[in-house]
Amino acid sequence: MSKVVEMTHPLIQHKISILRDKNTSLKEFRELAEEISMLMGYEVTRDLPLKEVEVETPICKTKTKVIAGKKVGIIPVLRAGLGMVEGMLKLIPAARVGHIGVYRDPQTLKPVEYYCKLPTDLPNRDLFIVDPMLATGGSASAAISFVKEHGGRNIKLVCLIGAPEGIAVVQKEHPDVDIFIGHIDERLNDHGYIVPGLGDAGDRLFGTK
Ligand code: PRP
Ligand code: URA
Repeated sequence: MSKVVEMTHPLIQHKISILRDKNTSLKEFRELAEEISMLMGYEVTRDLPLKEVEVETPICKTKTKVIAGKKVGIIPVLRAGLGMVEGMLKLIPAARVGHIGVYRDPQTLKPVEYYCKLPTDLPNRDLFIVDPMLATGGSASAAISFVKEHGGRNIKLVCLIGAPEGIAVVQKEHPDVDIFIGHIDERLNDHGYIVPGLGDAGDRLFGTK
């Protein structure tokens, strides 16, 4: 069974609360999504392996640690996942970015795939699939399957808000993928929206309706 890690950092909780507010402007929403993603980036990279190197300070030579040349890939699920990329890249600027286009059919709530462009060396990378919302879990689960079909192995899912239903689906279909969530909400409503959630993440990020 995979690990589900809910963020406890006060800054993350504080910023998610502002993100939820329906009166938060488009500009603020984008900035907050980026900031929260950066803070979550710090948490999700905790396990990256280190190696020892020698550095000469102005005082003396010393042995110290750097990240062990591990390659990272960030994969946003279009389109709302785009709002999480810049924040993660601030911490891992050399990461490759792949894109997966999946939208949820409003009638069936089933994921529809429309785009896929991923780095070629997926099997060698630590991969972070990012999407602000984990609702029924259909989109995330389809995106993970896509990445696996292209050879991705070390995959983590990073979402700002998740419903218990979506978490259960991803855990069942992808027991090897750990899930990092800013906040686990109560439930889904009859339209498959997360309650209390923040509404439609894509519309709030891009000002569409
Ligand atoms: C949202 C969100 C997820 C999906 C979550 O995208 O960004 O990808 O819904 O729902 P699920 O867990 O029930 O699949 P949406 O389909 O609205 O597309 P968009 O990002 O293009 O707005
Ligand atoms: N997609 C969203 O953007 N919000 C939800 O609450 C559910 C799916």
